[in-house]
Amino acid sequence: MFARSMLAASLFAALAFTAPASAQQPIVVKFSHVVAENTPKGQGALKFKEVAEKKLPGKVQVQVFPSSQLFGDAKELEALLLGDVQFIAPSLSKFDRYTKKIQLFDLPFLFDDIEAVDRFQSSAKGQELLTSMKNRGLIGLAYWHNGMKQLSTNRDKLTRPDDVKGLKFRIQASDVLEAQFRALGANPQKMAFAEVYQALQTGVVDGQENTWSNIYSQKFHEVQKTIAETNHGVIDYMVVTNAKWWDGLPADVRKGLSEAMAEATTHANKIAKDLNLADRKKIADAAKAKIQPLSKDDVAAWRKAMEPVWKKFEGDIGRDLIDAALKSNK
Ligand code: LMR
Repeated sequence: MFARSMLAASLFAALAFTAPASAQQPIVVKFSHVVAENTPKGQGALKFKEVAEKKLPGKVQVQVFPSSQLFGDAKELEALLLGDVQFIAPSLSKFDRYTKKIQLFDLPFLFDDIEAVDRFQSSAKGQELLTSMKNRGLIGLAYWHNGMKQLSTNRDKLTRPDDVKGLKFRIQASDVLEAQFRALGANPQKMAFAEVYQALQTGVVDGQENTWSNIYSQKFHEVQKTIAETNHGVIDYMVVTNAKWWDGLPADVRKGLSEAMAEATTHANKIAKDLNLADRKKIADAAKAKIQPLSKDDVAAWRKAMEPVWKKFEGDIGRDLIDAALKSNK
């Protein structure tokens, strides 16, 4: 009896000693973003979770927090640097406190379409931008597409730049976008994405610019009268992580997460265009806001009105980057 309990005790001690190694806790990886799940970014984040957990069973657990549930625009970059979240994918308009170069993507009418954006992002110059914030503690792992921006207001007429004079517009936290609306004689107001619906509904602002996907999933079309098909800019993302955390990961985990990121990127970028087109159709079918097509002449007028913005930011961005981006248009 005594011998048996001695044996049990020593077995227990041996087990207790080895337990931490065999019951290792998975690394918890938090991915926070501000949009809905049924958007290109929302779907990309879910694909990343699925692939990462399949590739690294028991080693990582990915938690995805959509719709600003964990962190909104105002806090997510700081939270990443503090280690409170491991992946975020802000729109390229939201990095100007970290590098002026990425402001490139906000220049109005720079890219003809999302294919041109893709060609630039895949080029050497585009890829260089992924590591341009390493000295600030941020590493870019991938670009994810959303789509081209459209302009909406609570007015019936929206075909020419004159139609937005004096109106208040919600903008992302970007100095280029601020200059863009000032060039139009409108009043831009920087505001977090999570606050836009209410601001439109209550008339705090008259209008905004966004992709079909964001307009539909946030129901902006229900609180706007007209959406002009301007395609005047792009909303795309950089998936970023904390450089110190990333470099400190075990090599096999970093490799698995990199592979998962590559698969998620392919997925998000493949569905982005179709999702935007489908959401455009849903907005048209809902018939709450009118979709205003524009003639070539109308588009030329918007382009001309926004032109002064380029000169203002060319010095910060660099002519070489602007030329490389322009070359991506076919
Ligand atoms: C916005 O703030 O309008 C967008 O950047 C939101 C997003 O992440 O697509």
